[in-house]
Amino acid sequence: MTGVGRPAPSELSDARLGELVARLGVEERVRVLTGATAWTLPPLPAVGLRPLTVSDGPIGVRGRGTAPTTSAQLPAPSALAATWDESLLDELGTLMAAEARAKSADVVLAPVVNLQRTPLGGRHFECFSEDPLLSGRLAVAYVRAVQRHGVGACVKHFVANDSETQRTAYYSRLSARALREVYLAPFERVVKDAGVWMLMAAYNGLDAGSPRDGRGSGGGTAAPATEHRWLLRELLKEEWEFDGVVVSDWMAAKSTAASARNGLDLVMPGPGGPWGAALLEAVRSGEVPQEDVDDKVRRILRLAGRVGALAGTAGPPPEDPSADVVPEHLGDEPHAAERRLETASGDEPATRAVLRRAAARATVVLRNDGLLPLPRSTSRIALIGANALEPFVQGGGSAHVTAPYVSRPLDALREAFPSAIVTAHRGGRTLSHAPLMEGAHVDGGEVELTVLGPGERQLETRTLPLPWDGVVRGLPEEAVSVRVEARIGLREPGEHLLEAAPAGAHRIEIDGAVLSESTDRVGKEALLDSSANHPRGYVRTVQVPRGGRLLSLSATVQVVDAGPFGRFARVELRHLPPGPGDGAEIAEAVRAAGEADVAVVVVGTNHETESEGWDRESLELPGRQCELVDRVAAANPRTVVVVNAGAPVLLPWLDSPDSAPATLWWWLPGQEAGTALADVLTGAAEPSGRLPWTLPASHGDVPVPDGVPRDGVIDYAEDLDVGHRGWDRLARTPAREFGFGLGYADWSYGPPRAGPWRAGEPLEVSVPVRNTGARPSREVVQLYLEAPAALAGPSGENPRRPVRWLAGFTVVEAAPGATVTASVRVSPRAFEVWDEAARGWRTPAGEYRLLAARSSRDVRGEVTVPVRAEA
Ligand code: BGC
Repeated sequence: MTGVGRPAPSELSDARLGELVARLGVEERVRVLTGATAWTLPPLPAVGLRPLTVSDGPIGVRGRGTAPTTSAQLPAPSALAATWDESLLDELGTLMAAEARAKSADVVLAPVVNLQRTPLGGRHFECFSEDPLLSGRLAVAYVRAVQRHGVGACVKHFVANDSETQRTAYYSRLSARALREVYLAPFERVVKDAGVWMLMAAYNGLDAGSPRDGRGSGGGTAAPATEHRWLLRELLKEEWEFDGVVVSDWMAAKSTAASARNGLDLVMPGPGGPWGAALLEAVRSGEVPQEDVDDKVRRILRLAGRVGALAGTAGPPPEDPSADVVPEHLGDEPHAAERRLETASGDEPATRAVLRRAAARATVVLRNDGLLPLPRSTSRIALIGANALEPFVQGGGSAHVTAPYVSRPLDALREAFPSAIVTAHRGGRTLSHAPLMEGAHVDGGEVELTVLGPGERQLETRTLPLPWDGVVRGLPEEAVSVRVEARIGLREPGEHLLEAAPAGAHRIEIDGAVLSESTDRVGKEALLDSSANHPRGYVRTVQVPRGGRLLSLSATVQVVDAGPFGRFARVELRHLPPGPGDGAEIAEAVRAAGEADVAVVVVGTNHETESEGWDRESLELPGRQCELVDRVAAANPRTVVVVNAGAPVLLPWLDSPDSAPATLWWWLPGQEAGTALADVLTGAAEPSGRLPWTLPASHGDVPVPDGVPRDGVIDYAEDLDVGHRGWDRLARTPAREFGFGLGYADWSYGPPRAGPWRAGEPLEVSVPVRNTGARPSREVVQLYLEAPAALAGPSGENPRRPVRWLAGFTVVEAAPGATVTASVRVSPRAFEVWDEAARGWRTPAGEYRLLAARSSRDVRGEVTVPVRAEA
């Protein structure tokens, strides 16, 4: 990892900020409150402010858009959470800061501390955990590290932004207690303990603590998160004393006066949007107080001071990028100027080493009947699975980065087992859609594009060779639609699939027959929603005779006006050539497994499954992967299954006595995918991951089975019982519970001891643990609390508590046979409840059970903590 190269941040005093604001005219003050581009703010030469730059996280720092550069690609946040390791998050935060500096970014739009409320949530992989305490503590470690190096973090998405369906429109409705104790909890920690410099207001609306369902205190209001006065002003800025910048999620701000008055500080992206001239007018007419605008400007200048963007503070030289780019998930290309600014990264030995260690450490051993680790002398390994050949290393959406390389399992296993013959077998396709057309499979052919203006007036034509990526960019203002005429030469005899995937209104014909037609136009907001994002497409099967066939495809697609992201038209052309078929591929893989010493089957999700922009509908593994596991395991009793997914999928074979004796959860592991897997399989690294969420055995058991709004509202009816708390409340048995992970060692626990409880102070707890295994190992010691029986009641004086909740944790390491003492501090908040009537925190008195555990259901010892009534 390279040095971060920026001195410690400098804080500007309130008096100094006031002086700077006073030097600016009202037009300049308003101007700096909207992005100049999708990723930068306008400069203010009068006060020496250069353009502040933000860039997406949390998996890596992309730079300003989709520039053709590389970025260090971390394991997905759900993987990082499986390490439960704050010191690792600190190291990765430092890496993110170095990446940000290399790409001239001042603020990284990360971490995500929304909760995995339902396993189907599209951005599940991008969140840390289903548990508020675990999410908050890991986020604090990450943010502190990023900001220690003078780069800002932007915690997101504030708040209750836990699913993707209709994501720009729905309201989350929850009780004041659920809001305070669960969904705000990680944000509160990041604001108060890490002093985060930026916070992103979410797309959704918030309806919390409202009287309408009897669960609230009545103080709540329903409003979009970007203009929720109680949330942004009263809670965040006044009660929590947040002194940073509240930025809108991209295109989330809709109103002028309401958002400006109620606490939003910055509208992104720009130019355009609801502020600008309209806000200036509102200030002049008195509708928005001048003082509100000045407060926002002070906050932006404070941030600028912290990241060194003001003349006289530390930081890189001023630059003024003139044009902008569309984020990857919106599908446009980088501006040429960006290419010069960006630097490739992710390939340095120290970066590779930390990413490899992180991915190996995160791996969770779900089952191991003695097969793992594999001996180095293993002579023949059959590596099987679509995800073995093409690992799914990161989820889709704004977090996407281009890694400098992806370490493939095949190469890594060949290196790790030098005397073994390692063979690779796909064992069937797992994608429902055809891949993008490839040159190797089409016999020449070309595409003619005609850009049409109003009244079908021809504006320009372009001719391009096939294959083509399907996106038309750089379109003139008056462009309305684009006509695409493609001649596609198909050579191989047999059955081909042709698929066309348009964005918005279109008409597509193949050889004169209509394939699909729609008059539903999409605009920039629709692009953020699942309707336009999901990789659906329209399919035609084509029989190609010996000697080949020339097809003609003609399409007309609308031009999408994506505001600050530019104008484009899109119709992806996809193609699946004839192949052996899934049945034959599975049979071939099973045959190879039977001949091998060990079979390693990698199953998992893919880019059609896990992404921002849509929720999943099912927990099933795509394709015939369960059948593949069953048949491979039947052919070879020494089968290891490796699960390549960020969010839960059903593993029906997991506990079957005649199926695979070992199953590992490998996550979305980032660029060091293969090396990390090889380290785990050989035992060079300890797979010490523990699940940061609950793995269901069936969809029907899941306490919150979906996150779909009903009449525009998502009702958080489970209240405090999110994740494992819901499983405990309903007394359901998952496939593997929250906190579960076997590692490669065994541990015995001595009796936990708790120091005296004192009001307002952390409780010191120590737990002696002994490594009873044969290898050095790491253990995640978890502490859970259970309320006094008298407090488990449904309402009133005795507030209902979860059956059991996570109260603390720590990671320890020990050599074989060694005993170490795990010291854990339990924060006073772990005992507290939000008192809706009194609008304050209070600690219900009584005898609490404090459990020392290996997982939420594997309790190894307990101690009683008497809590006195508050004076
Ligand atoms: C996402 C944010 C992201 C932003 C900029 C939005 O669609 O919700 O997480 O930071 O785009 O890419």
